[in-house]
Amino acid sequence: MAKPKVYVTRKLPSEKAMQMLYEYCEIDLNEKPDPPTREELLEHVKGKDGLLCLLTDKIDKEVFDAAPDLKVVSTYSVGYDHIDVEEATKRGIYVTNTPGVLTEAVADLTWGLILAVARRIVEADNLIKQGGWKGAWSPTFMLGREVYGKVLGIIGLGRIGTAVARRAKGFNMKVLYYDRKRREELEKELGVEYRSIEEILKEADIVSLHVPLTKETYHMIGEKELKMMKPTAILINTARGAVVDTNALIKALEEGWIAGAGLDVFEKEPLPEGHPITKFKNVVLTPHIGSATFETRAKMAELAVDNLISVLKGEEPKALVNPEVKKIRPLSSVKMI
Ligand code: NAP
Ligand code: GLV
Repeated sequence: MAKPKVYVTRKLPSEKAMQMLYEYCEIDLNEKPDPPTREELLEHVKGKDGLLCLLTDKIDKEVFDAAPDLKVVSTYSVGYDHIDVEEATKRGIYVTNTPGVLTEAVADLTWGLILAVARRIVEADNLIKQGGWKGAWSPTFMLGREVYGKVLGIIGLGRIGTAVARRAKGFNMKVLYYDRKRREELEKELGVEYRSIEEILKEADIVSLHVPLTKETYHMIGEKELKMMKPTAILINTARGAVVDTNALIKALEEGWIAGAGLDVFEKEPLPEGHPITKFKNVVLTPHIGSATFETRAKMAELAVDNLISVLKGEEPKALVNPEVKKIRPLSSVKMI
C-alpha cells in the first residue's frame, strides 16, 4: 500500500515525532522557520491525505477545496479556532488537537503573569537594568498588590482553568469561576464557587480567562465588563486575544478602570510594533508562549503525530475534536496504513 501523503506546515521539536511521521507517511515539510504563506498552504495541501498544521494556519473552505482527498487535519495546539470544524465535519475530515499535555505549562505561565503584574516584576527588572535604582531601600518604593488571600475569578473552568485554580490553593485564595456548565465535582474537590460573569468581574481581584475563542466568547470582555471590574483588579488573558476587546482594554487602562493586565495572546499576532498596548507599565506582555517549554512542545508534537497517524490507520485518535465526523466517514473507510 502506498504511504499516505501529508503536508506538515512546520518542523516539530521532537525527533521521535518527526521519525514517526517519516515512517508512516510521505511527508511534504515546510522547512522554513515561518508559517507557509496562504499561497504555499493552498499549493502544498493539494493531493494530500493529511495535514499537520499550527494555530497560525487558517484552515477553511478554500483549503478543503484545494485538498479534496484530505481525511485528517491534526493541529499542533489545543485551540482550534483557526479551523472551520463544521465544514471539515461536513466533508468527512477528522480534526484532532493536543489537549492535556500543555495544561500545566499554560497554568504556570498564567501564574507567572499574575505575579509579574501584581508585584511589578518586569517593571522592577527594567528599572534596575536601565540604571534607575538610585535611592536606598524605601518603605514606599515600587509597591505592588498582594496576591496571597485575594479573590481569583476564573472564566472557563476547563483543563487550564482548573490547573490555575489548583495553584491558587497555595496562595490561600478564594476562587470563583464562571463556565457554561457547573462543575460540581470541582466545587467539592477544590472549594471553587460558581458565580455569573458579572459577579466575578465585580468581586475578583484577579480575573483570568480560559475559554476557547468561539462565536460566543468573541469580545466576551469589552467596555461594559471592564467597567464592572474593581479599579484595583488585574485581567489576565492566556486564552485567545479576541476574547477581549483590545480597544476597550486600552481605554480601561488609560482611564484606570482596572489596575493592570497580563497578556499572552492578542487579537493580531504578532502584535504590530508600537501597538498602544505596549505603552503601559502596568501591563506585562508575552508573545503567545503559554505552552512554550521544551517538555510540553515535545509532548504536543508526539500527540499531534499520534492523532494524525491513528486516523490514517483507521484507529480512534487520542484527541478528536469532531466525533460526529465518524457518521459521515467511518474510521474504517479512512484506513490507509
Ligand atoms: P477546555 O478544557 O476546553 O476549557 C475551556 C472551558 O471553557 C471549558 O470548560 C468550556 O466548556 C468552557 N467554555 C466554552 N465556551 C464557553 C462559554 N461560551 N462560556 C463559558 N465557558 C465556556 O480547554 P483548555 O485546554 O483549558 O484550553 C482553553 C483555551 O486556552 C484554548 O481553547 C486555547 O484557546 C487557550 N490556550 C492558550 C495557550 C497559550 O499558549 N496561551 C495554550 C493552550 C491553550 P465546555 O467543556 O462545555 O466546552
Ligand atoms: C495554544 O495557544 C494552543 O491552543 O495550544
